[in-house]
Amino acid sequence: MSSPHNSAEIGDIAERVLLPGDPVRAKVIAENFLDGAKKYNEIRNAYGFTGKYKGVPVSIQATGMGIPSFSIYVHELIHVYGAKKLIRVGTCGGMHPDLNLRDVLIASGSSTDSSIVEKTFGGAINFSLIPDFSLLVKAVSCAVNLKIPVKVGNVFCTDRFYNDYSSPTGVYTSGGLTLDEKMIQHGILAVEMESAALYLLAAAANVQALAIFTVSNHLGRHEETTAAERENDFNDMVKIALETVIQ
Ligand code: HPA
Repeated sequence: MSSPHNSAEIGDIAERVLLPGDPVRAKVIAENFLDGAKKYNEIRNAYGFTGKYKGVPVSIQATGMGIPSFSIYVHELIHVYGAKKLIRVGTCGGMHPDLNLRDVLIASGSSTDSSIVEKTFGGAINFSLIPDFSLLVKAVSCAVNLKIPVKVGNVFCTDRFYNDYSSPTGVYTSGGLTLDEKMIQHGILAVEMESAALYLLAAAANVQALAIFTVSNHLGRHEETTAAERENDFNDMVKIALETVIQ
């Protein structure tokens, strides 16, 4: 038996899964970090691989970009294939001035403009989207052991890459600040497009989840990393994620 978007058989996918958006990154992670990696999915080129990291079975599943695509793969990983520990490895755009290109960021909270929370709770509760605490603590301690500096904080998970939250014609808040300015004032560090779904789906299914990012661009300073820099930064983040997921 497989699932609508994944041709893996039950048992092909490990309980521990890393979740990059980009299928090419999934392949690179599998080839560079896993022993004996085998591809289990090619549907839509959303590659998935299972191999071993330090003797522990780990899968790497590409999810595509944004909450709808991501949610399909994660739902099926959890409910069809029995995934129990899921770590998103992705990029984010720095918003806060304290954040710099290439920083590794662990999301201790996720705030969103998506309606997924409202749809889940009928608008009655603004459910807090948070990671699994033990995975969060483990990731921080693995980063310390690996001597990779990390920042930890709240991220903004948006449904629109091209939104108008910092534009003069965009959304203004009660303080006369743009929405981006208001979020930064409240300590939001960066923007990305999947963590809210990960934390919500994991909470609903009582499984463990965490989102880790590298800063690929900075919104306020209009900066971007080069492809070569992204490659290196990505490896640092993947090492933290793999060391965390096997514990
Ligand atoms: N916006 C949304 N998601 C992102 C960005 C961004 O600037 N950079 C990386 N993921």
